[in-house]
Amino acid sequence: MNKLRIYKGADYNDMSRKAAAVIQAQLTVKPESVLGLATGSSPVGLYDVLAKMYKDGEVDFSCAKTVNLDEYLGLSPDNDQSYRYFMQKNLFSRVNIDIANTYVPNGLAADPDEECARYDDIIEKLGGVDLQLIGIGVNGHIGFNEPADSFPVKTHVEALAEKTINVNKRFFKSVDDVPRKAFTMGIGAIMSAPVVLLIASGKEKAQALKEAFFGPVTPHFPASVLQFHRNVILAADKEALSLFPDR
Ligand code: GLP
Repeated sequence: MNKLRIYKGADYNDMSRKAAAVIQAQLTVKPESVLGLATGSSPVGLYDVLAKMYKDGEVDFSCAKTVNLDEYLGLSPDNDQSYRYFMQKNLFSRVNIDIANTYVPNGLAADPDEECARYDDIIEKLGGVDLQLIGIGVNGHIGFNEPADSFPVKTHVEALAEKTINVNKRFFKSVDDVPRKAFTMGIGAIMSAPVVLLIASGKEKAQALKEAFFGPVTPHFPASVLQFHRNVILAADKEALSLFPDR
C-alpha cells in the first residue's frame, strides 16, 4: 500500500468534521477544485458541516465544480430518491456553488450508453477529479461498482447486487421500488483522482474496511483497489475501524 492516512473520529459527527476539514482545505488550496462527490448515509453529516462552514464564512464553493459518482437509472432529478435530489437537498442548495457547475448522471437519459460516454467526456473536459469522496458498501462496492470479475474503468451501467438492493431498500417504500440499475463512474476516474477521501462509520462497515485495506486486491471486492492508490485519506469512526490492526 502506498499511503493510507487515517483520521479516526470518536463517532459519526467527529468523522464528519474531520472529513469536512479535508474538503475545506482542498477548496482553500485550490478554489476551482473539481470535487468528486458521493451520496448515501455516510456523507450526510459531512455535508451538514460544510453547510455550516459556508454559513460561517469558512468555506467558499463559488469556483468549485462537482461530479457525482453515481445515479439510479430511471429516476428523475426531482424524485426524492434520486442522487441529484439528494445533492440539491444536502449540499448544493446550502452553499454558494453554481448549479451549472454540478454534474450528476441523468437517470432518465434515453440512451444509457451515450449518457456514460457523455459523463466521461464531462470528467475529461473538467481535467479530472481533484479530490474524490467515496463511501463503501458492505460488499466492498465504491460508487456503484459492484463485485465483478474485472475492474470497470469507465462510467457504465451497473446491475445492482442483491445485497446492495437490500441495504438500500431502507430509503424506499418497498424493496420493489429500489431501481435495479445505476450509472456509476468507473474505477478509472476514482483511481485517477490525486486524493481519495473515504468515509465510513459504524460497526457494519468494519469488516468491509478491513477487507478493503488488508485483504487481497481483487475486483470481487472493488474497494481493495484503493491499496494501489497513492493518497487515500480514510476518515472513519472508532466502530468502523474496530477490526483494523493496531497501527
Ligand atoms: C450506496 C452508494 C455508494 C455509497 C454506499 C454506502 O449504495 N451508491 O456511493 O458509498 O452505497 O452507502 P452508505 O453511506 O449509505 O452506507
